[in-house]
Amino acid sequence: MLTAADWLAARLSDAGLDAEILPTDGHPVVLGEWRGAGPDAPTLLIYGHYDVQPAEPLELWTSPAFEPEIRDGRVYARGAADDKGQLFMHVKALEAHLATTGSLPLNVVLMAEGEEEVGSPNLLPFVKGHRDRLAADAVLISDSAMFDKGQPSLLFSLRGLAYAEVRVRSAKGDLHSGAYGGAVPNPATALSRMIATLHDDNGHIAIPGFYDDVLEWADDIRDEIRTLPFDEEGFREAVGAPALDGETDWSVLERLWIRPTCEVNGLLSGWTGEGAKTVLPAEAMAKISFRLVPDQDPKRVITTLREHLESVAPDGVTIEVTELHGGRPWKADPTGPLFDAAATALEEAFGTAPVRVGEGGSIPIVVEFEEVLECPALLVGFALPGCNMHAPDEWFGIDEFDRGTGALVRLYEELGAALR
Ligand code: BES
Ligand code: MN
Ligand code: MN
Repeated sequence: MLTAADWLAARLSDAGLDAEILPTDGHPVVLGEWRGAGPDAPTLLIYGHYDVQPAEPLELWTSPAFEPEIRDGRVYARGAADDKGQLFMHVKALEAHLATTGSLPLNVVLMAEGEEEVGSPNLLPFVKGHRDRLAADAVLISDSAMFDKGQPSLLFSLRGLAYAEVRVRSAKGDLHSGAYGGAVPNPATALSRMIATLHDDNGHIAIPGFYDDVLEWADDIRDEIRTLPFDEEGFREAVGAPALDGETDWSVLERLWIRPTCEVNGLLSGWTGEGAKTVLPAEAMAKISFRLVPDQDPKRVITTLREHLESVAPDGVTIEVTELHGGRPWKADPTGPLFDAAATALEEAFGTAPVRVGEGGSIPIVVEFEEVLECPALLVGFALPGCNMHAPDEWFGIDEFDRGTGALVRLYEELGAALR
């Protein structure tokens, strides 16, 4: 992590920004600043992250995860899309602008954190502690995807996240399943039954109160989502599942972007090694997370989960629900000067006007930026669908890198005028 932070700081400094590495209680924050536009000019905060998800399982990569390789117009490496590659586009766009014109159309602070993939535990205190230095008229983030190749996109929402670990216990230790089974509760069975109560037959989440704060989206956004050329069958084929799943009364894009979910991310209990072992496990564990939509609150969702599990837990087991981490959902005002500036820059670089899209993933700090720094966020990403974020063979398109970097150069100019 420290090597990556040093490397990034050196590139920022090569590009002509003042670079600094600032400590936090976790991985450091890298800052690059250029304030040559003067105190009367607007300031843009560019945010990205230099941490990545683990590359394991390494044997599933075609070329080594940390040795970038270009094949068929794509660069393959962990972080190529999420988010080192997209962060680097800003470094290169700033460098190009400074090298060709000697200046930038607005003041720029680039902030890269090293803990996004673990829920940014130290970033909010950092932002609050450096409020003056980070003060900006807008926050610009490239850590998301385009709707399709050749189709630039502007984000109108991100889902939030609430993540819990659930432990179910019964006997004080593992037991012989013949000598005790039939009379002693089985935590694996109990947990499975509890998990089975989380959804109903129509794919709705069956936890009482779960939908209380779910915002009804305006009809125009739903109409716009429906007009996007999305091939549900092609999507199913690309993921390789025999059929798709989820809330029956919503389209696939709506289910991915503007509806909340409840997923089991991991399950563990009893004997899971090779062969058979006749054991009655003492404990079972599940990792359960929710993707949230405006205006759901992660803490409240964990509370409703805890109350629900307690109410459906069979007799003879105890349960413990621990909140791991969370992040609030985000929703943009997809109109106005910021969106117009981005639309102009993207259309010039890609030759096509952008579409407005939602996103199922989460970037928890976005809402906090808007609240603490009191300025809007603009999310413009360039990864392509199927780019394997968080998976083996992650890649980023060279064409998207080139056009996208050109779009960012134009975007700085448009924002310099729009934010003035
Ligand atoms: N860049 C992603 C979020 C994302 C994914 C945006 C796909 C657009 C398309 C981000 O790095 C991420 O993975 N976030 C985590 C957040 C969590 C660890 C708190 C996520 O969504 O799981
Ligand atoms: Mn990311
Ligand atoms: Mn990620």
